[in-house]
Amino acid sequence: MQYRRLGRSGLKLSELSFGSWVTFHNQAGYESARDMMAVAYESGINFFDNAEVYAEGQSEIIMGKALKDLAWGRDTYAVSSKVFWGGPKPTQRGLSRKHVRDACDAALRRLQVDYLDLYFCHRPDIDTPVEETVRAMHELVLQGKILYWGTSEWSAQMIFEAHGIARQYGLTPPTMEQPEYNLFHRERFEHEYARCYSELGMGTTIWSPLASGLLTGKYNQGIPKDSRATVKGYEWLKNNFESPEGKEKIERTKALEGLAKEAGMSLTHLSLLWCLHNPNVSTVILGASRTEQLRDNLAALKVAKNFDTSLVERIEKIMQNKPTAWTHNA
Ligand SMILES: NC(=O)c1ccc[n+]([C@@H]2O[C@H](COP(=O)([O-])OP(=O)(O)OC[C@H]3O[C@@H](n4cnc5c(N)ncnc54)[C@H](OP(=O)(O)O)[C@@H]3O)[C@@H](O)[C@H]2O)c1
Repeated sequence: MQYRRLGRSGLKLSELSFGSWVTFHNQAGYESARDMMAVAYESGINFFDNAEVYAEGQSEIIMGKALKDLAWGRDTYAVSSKVFWGGPKPTQRGLSRKHVRDACDAALRRLQVDYLDLYFCHRPDIDTPVEETVRAMHELVLQGKILYWGTSEWSAQMIFEAHGIARQYGLTPPTMEQPEYNLFHRERFEHEYARCYSELGMGTTIWSPLASGLLTGKYNQGIPKDSRATVKGYEWLKNNFESPEGKEKIERTKALEGLAKEAGMSLTHLSLLWCLHNPNVSTVILGASRTEQLRDNLAALKVAKNFDTSLVERIEKIMQNKPTAWTHNA
């Protein structure tokens, strides 16, 4: 396992990390979740991702119990939460000073930790001035409740706005963004955020590196019974996979699978290594509903030496979706 700096910060995260969206509580009960966390940690993973909204808090409760039972030194791992969708009441959602503070306290209780290493604004909130959120995050930093704060799926413009406010008033700026990034979803990460890396030193903790499993090839022959697309509440994923756009993606996936075979690796490994190949990725957050998947994904690192620029070029030929490079004249 290699470790990468989270943007310009001094925090070094494992290049692969582990998250609990969909899986903890819905697909994996306590024991399975704890065992996956143990496998992850023993393989060198030092970052565990969570959010107040995952399984309505149950995901953090499971992770918190596992952290307590596994009893790793608190200085040996980083854990996150995200604020935005806390509950149905107006004061329980969004990025107001009140909800940012209440959500942080609740996450600390559920995760059974004294502080969060990373704390994300799970989405932009058009009803709250960015300055209010920057101040709320800065206050949590001063109180020692969080170490680094960041955003998830904010526009580059809003991220620059947050930095401008932080600079103007001497507040803590955001350190990282958590965007979707995989072979099918590239535009924002590679194009829109380009100046965020070079000018702000933004770090990234990327999500859905396997496009919810599509990039393992498991949906190539239809929807498998025990897959995410069959989980209650995720019917939209099944609809996506079965849509004309989804079918087109599956055709590309099949072509990628052939290429992966020629390169001596699985499609899953090729897809994960492609994400890691981008130096603006600080860590790739893995998802897994069972231990075998996690072990399989971690094994990507063993074939990393087979992933080179000639393979990247052949992948581009299949994908045909490379965003235009950002230049001063574009
Ligand atoms: N900030 C955000 O808005 C946001 C959004 C989404 C996710 N995230 C974070 O990013 C993490 C990763 O996202 P993700 O879970 O969508 O990642 P992903 O890697 O795209 O999908 C993971 C899912 O794919 C399937 N899978 C993974 N490895 C496999 C393998 N080797 N063989 C067969 N199937 C495999 C499993 O689903 P099945 O077994 O059910 O088929 C697994 O749960 C989340 O846990 C969360 O922490 C953040």
